[in-house]
Parts: sequence; C-alpha cells; structure tokens
Amino acid sequence: MRLLVAITGASGSLYAQRLLDNLDAGQHEIRVVLSRYAPVVIAEEMPGGLRLPPGAIEHNLKSMNAPFASGSNAPDAMVIIPCSMGTLGRIAHGYSEDVLLRAADVVLKERKKLILVPRETPLNLIHVKNFELLIQAGATILPANPSFYTRPQTVEAVVDTVVARVLDHLGVEHELAGRWKEEREV
Ligand SMILES: Cc1cc2nc3c(=O)[nH]c(=O)nc-3n(C[C@H](O)[C@H](O)[C@H](O)COP(=O)(O)O)c2cc1C
Repeated sequence: MRLLVAITGASGSLYAQRLLDNLDAGQHEIRVVLSRYAPVVIAEEMPGGLRLPPGAIEHNLKSMNAPFASGSNAPDAMVIIPCSMGTLGRIAHGYSEDVLLRAADVVLKERKKLILVPRETPLNLIHVKNFELLIQAGATILPANPSFYTRPQTVEAVVDTVVARVLDHLGVEHELAGRWKEEREV
C-alpha cells in the first residue's frame, strides 16, 4: 500500500507516533508530511521529537514536487492524525494551498481512502457541518476517542485503542488492542 501520513497542529501527536511505530516501511510505501503548526505541538507534547520508521520519506509542506500532489500518482490512503479543525475545514472547502491540503483533495477526487482523526471537543456547528461535507465527499471521520473495555494500563495503550481502529480502516493487520469479546469472560 502507498500511504501518506499527515500530522497537523492538533493535540495528540502521540497518535501519529504510535501509528508510525506500527507501520512497516518494508511492506508499505510510507510518506509523511507535517502541517505548519504540527512541529509546535510535537515539541510541546513529545520533547524527544517525532521518530519516523526507517524507510519512511518526509516531504516539505510547501513543495508540490511530491507524487501525491497529483491525481496521476495518488496514494492508496491518506491519514491525517491528529487532524486540527483548521485543516479539516480547509479540506472540506477545497483549499489546496500546500501539499498536505492538495493531497487530501487528490485522495478525495480519486476516490481513495481519506481518514481524518480529529481530537477537538466540544464541537461547534461549523465543525459538524465540515464533518458532514467530508463524509459526503467520501472521507472517514475517525475521532480520537479512546475506548477502555480492554483496560489499557498506559498512555500508549490508551492511544493504541484509537490507532488500532485507524489500522483496521487501512486494512493493516495488527495486534495493538484486543477486540471486543476476545478478552476473557467477566
Ligand atoms: C498545544 C496545542 C494544542 C492544540 N490542539 C488543538 C486541537 O486539539 N485541535 C485543533 O483544532 N487545534 C488545536 N490547536 C490549534 C492549532 O494548532 C491551530 O489552529 C493551527 O492553526 C492549526 O494549523 P494546522 O491545521 O495547519 O496544523 C492546538 C495548538 C497548540 C499549540
């Protein structure tokens, strides 16, 4: 699979890190792009910085010289994790002024898989209307809402309950979080 992971300036950089930790660049082509504000939030939330898996390729936000900037070379899937409401709104309204936004536009028009992982809470009507537009355009909104029925014991394990759902939607096999009714009877 040819996969583009985009990271924005929403809280939850760890979601992006755990997704990258669970993608094998030997098996998939992994490209990464950061929004303008992503580095600010990453510095705040992960002082050690973002670790890319060996073999992953990072792209410059301001260069359109990336394969995924064109419908002729669209990725199979794009995940925006975490996704700020700003980026989400810009995609919903067709802004394409940087390569992250352009890639999302391309993925939608080429009917590939676009997964957005917003964290924002609470939501206002503008957010909800943008969700509606994006779902109508074919995107998947997969909010960073962790689950607790597997009794996660660490921050990473909580984060992984969301990352597991992202991997499920990508069709990537994983053993990150148990599935409902796979646990022992209670
Ligand atoms: C520490 C921190 C946390 C933030 N968390 C969120 C968030 O969860 N959701 C959101 O929409 N914006 C959040 N923001 C604000 C965005 O970074 C800001 O709206 C920015 O313009 C988003 O730009 P981008 O979409 O290009 O990344 C946060 C900012 C900071 C500094």
